[in-house]
Amino acid sequence: MAEQDEQVYICRCEEVTREEIEQVIRDGAITLAGVKKRTHAGMGLCQGRTCRRLIANMLACSRDPAQILPSTFRPPVRTVRIDEIAQGDEE
Ligand code: FES
Repeated sequence: MAEQDEQVYICRCEEVTREEIEQVIRDGAITLAGVKKRTHAGMGLCQGRTCRRLIANMLACSRDPAQILPSTFRPPVRTVRIDEIAQGDEE
């Protein structure tokens, strides 16, 4: 059972397991950026859309939430046609 738990992927894009994230938190990561730098979780195709909240929850459960620093993130980008920009379309 414990072996199965280690193979739970928190970040599917970068194939980062729960165990890897728990280890970097034990090693002192206190921010999403810290976890990201050490594991590359959140740097995949979805840019953390799927895993960011899971990692934030793991951080919050591991420490006093007041110690957790807020992080910045950039949403995934998509190509935009220049005429859409010129017209000011939001979608
Ligand atoms: S699931 Fe982590 S970057 Fe996509």
